[in-house]
Amino acid sequence: MASLPTILVTGATGFIGRHLVRQLSRDGTALRLLVRSQAKAEALFGSQFELVEGEVTNPDAVERACRGMRQVYHLAGYYEFGRRHQPELWRTNVDGTRHILAACRRAAVERLIHGSTAGVLHSVGRPRTHRDFPTRPPTGCHYKVSKWEAEQSVLRAAAQGLPAVIASPTAPLGTGDDRPTPTGRVLLDLLQGRFPVCPHTGFNVAAVEDVAAGLQAVGERGRNGQRYVLGDSNVWLRDLLRQGAQLAGVRPPRGLVPWPLVALGGLAAEGWAWLGGSGSSRLCWETAYYARQRQFFDCTHSHSELGWKPQKTLAETLRDALSWFATFPHTRPVRPPVQTEPVTSR
Ligand SMILES: NC(=O)c1ccc[n+]([C@@H]2O[C@H](COP(=O)([O-])OP(=O)(O)OC[C@H]3O[C@@H](n4cnc5c(N)ncnc54)[C@H](OP(=O)(O)O)[C@@H]3O)[C@@H](O)[C@H]2O)c1
Repeated sequence: MASLPTILVTGATGFIGRHLVRQLSRDGTALRLLVRSQAKAEALFGSQFELVEGEVTNPDAVERACRGMRQVYHLAGYYEFGRRHQPELWRTNVDGTRHILAACRRAAVERLIHGSTAGVLHSVGRPRTHRDFPTRPPTGCHYKVSKWEAEQSVLRAAAQGLPAVIASPTAPLGTGDDRPTPTGRVLLDLLQGRFPVCPHTGFNVAAVEDVAAGLQAVGERGRNGQRYVLGDSNVWLRDLLRQGAQLAGVRPPRGLVPWPLVALGGLAAEGWAWLGGSGSSRLCWETAYYARQRQFFDCTHSHSELGWKPQKTLAETLRDALSWFATFPHTRPVRPPVQTEPVTSR
C-alpha cells in the first residue's frame, strides 16, 4: 500500500519546483503538492502525488496543505522585475511566506526549507557568501526587497524555535523554465536575436538539477536557522552569451554597453511606463541598477556542510537550457554540440 505523504512542496509546478519534486520522489517518496492548477500539476507529474489546490496568499489553503506534514519545501514565489509588480511580489513572497510560517507552527512541522534567493546577499569587493545577509533591505529592486523581507520573517521564526532552514539558489538554468524566469529570458533573448549588446555584469549560474539536489541536501542535512547558497559557476554575462551563441549557432552580442547608457535606457523605460506605455521587465530601472553589479558567489560553506556539489558543467547546463528554449517561437534551432572553452571565473 502506498504510504501517506509527510513532505509538502509549494511552487511544485514552477521551474525549480518541478525538478525538486522529481529529485525528492526518485526513491518513491510520497509527496503532497500545493498547486494553483491541478491540471498543470497532472500534466507535469500524472496522478502520482497528492494535490492541494490553492494559493499561498490564502491562509486556509496553506493550513490545509501543511496539516500533518513533517517537512515543507516552500518554493512558491513570484519573480519579476519592475515597479508594477510590487503588489504581487509582496502578496506572494512576503504574505505567502508568513502564512506558511504560521501554518508550519500550528502543524508542528519538523523542518521548513524556505526557498529564498542568493540575490538578497551583498558584499563589496569579494564573492558573496551565506554570511552576507544585509541588515537593511536591498535598494533598487522590489523583488529583492520582498525576498529579503520574507527571509527576515523566517529568521525571526527560527530564532523563536521553528525548525526552519534557508536555501538560497543563485541563478538556475536548464529545462522546464517555461514562463520563463528573468534568468532564463537572457538565453531566450539570445536565441531570438534580442541581445545585440550587453552590459558588463557578472553573475553565478547553476544547473537546475543541481539546485534541486542542493535543496534536498538542505532539507536533510542543513542546520536550523542557517542559510545555504546553492550556486556553481561565476561567469561574466558577455562570456556566458558568447559560449551560448557558439553552442546554438547564433550571433553573439557585438560588444559591451557602458553602464551610464544602460541606466539611461532603464530610466527612459520607467518614464515610458509611467506615461502609460507598456512596462518591460527586461529593461527598467531595477534591471539597469543591478547591471552595474558583479554578483559572484562562494559556495564552499554549502559544499562542506551539506556534502553537496554541483555535477553538471557549465557547457552541459547551457546546452540543456538552450535546447529547451529552442522549442519556443521565433528562436533558431540549437545545433549539435561543439567544443567550447571554459568561461568560468571562479
Ligand atoms: N529562477 C531563479 O532564477 C531563482 C533564483 C533564486 C531564487 N528563486 C526562487 O525560487 C523559487 C522558485 O522560483 P522558480 O524559478 O521556480 O519560479 P517559477 O518558475 O516562476 O515558479 C514559481 C512557482 O510558484 C507558484 N506560485 C506563484 N504564485 C503562487 C501563489 N500565489 N500561490 C501558490 N503558488 C504560487 C507557481 O505556480 P504556477 O505554476 O501555477 O504559476 C510556480 O509553481 C521562488 O521563490 C524564487 O524567488 C528563483
